[in-house]
Amino acid sequence: MTSLFDQTQAAVAHIRTVTAAQPTIGIILGTGLGGLVDHVDVEHSIDYATIPHFPVSTVESHKGRLIFGTIGGHSVVVMQGRFHLYEGYSAAQAAFPVRVMKLLGVRTMIVSNACGGMNPLFRRGDVMLIDDHINLLGDNPLIGPNDDRFGPRFPDMSEPYSQHLLSLAERCALSLKLKVHRGVYVAVAGPNLETRAEYRFLRTIGADVVGMSTVPEVIAARHMNMDVLGISIITDECFPDSLQPVRLEDVLAAAAIAEPNMTALVREVLANL
Ligand code: HPA
Repeated sequence: MTSLFDQTQAAVAHIRTVTAAQPTIGIILGTGLGGLVDHVDVEHSIDYATIPHFPVSTVESHKGRLIFGTIGGHSVVVMQGRFHLYEGYSAAQAAFPVRVMKLLGVRTMIVSNACGGMNPLFRRGDVMLIDDHINLLGDNPLIGPNDDRFGPRFPDMSEPYSQHLLSLAERCALSLKLKVHRGVYVAVAGPNLETRAEYRFLRTIGADVVGMSTVPEVIAARHMNMDVLGISIITDECFPDSLQPVRLEDVLAAAAIAEPNMTALVREVLANL
């Protein structure tokens, strides 16, 4: 079996047959940031299915493409479609594209997601900058042999989300007159939403929002010393004492409402980076 590093190099070698781009910023488009693609001057688009060792997305609302282009004067690589544990992937597989980004030259990662809000001050459609996370996925992308070419065996996690990027994003939000929260994201495997008892538990252990992605990619990014900015859209209110049933349509509708704000914020951050 080839090593993770060899697999990553094979994926990069294929990408290099298509583009010589030198992106320094990687963007993972979660639910609610898809519209950012319209602001990218696209140079190349590569289907995940054609890249060696790349997982293939099974979620219908996500497309599976790696996009190369420029936005706000930066050369970027954009993941249109990401991988979740509930699809059957391991955390290491979900983080594989981040490994590829690193070997392409990416130093800063911007990652977005949809999540449920448990902090009673948060409302559906609000945007939260991720300040910290809790990994309850039951998996970790770093399990297995460590390759020192990626990073250390026991990477530090005292600042998973760059305080510098967080401050910048808050300044950008202020200049755009956008309300943003700052808080803790807890990742669970899903795919079911949580019970009332689980929301109560997750809130009690210190989380403001809950979702099913992002943490594998962020752990791998920090393993490789990339700076991370994480942004969440609150798509449903998860207050255990007044919990309402949630439908996927409602989640997607809330994400669509917040999308222009999220897109404007990321564009402003990129313009000031
Ligand atoms: N729980 C977990 N993941 C989610 C939720 C939720 O309530 N909403 C959107 N993603």
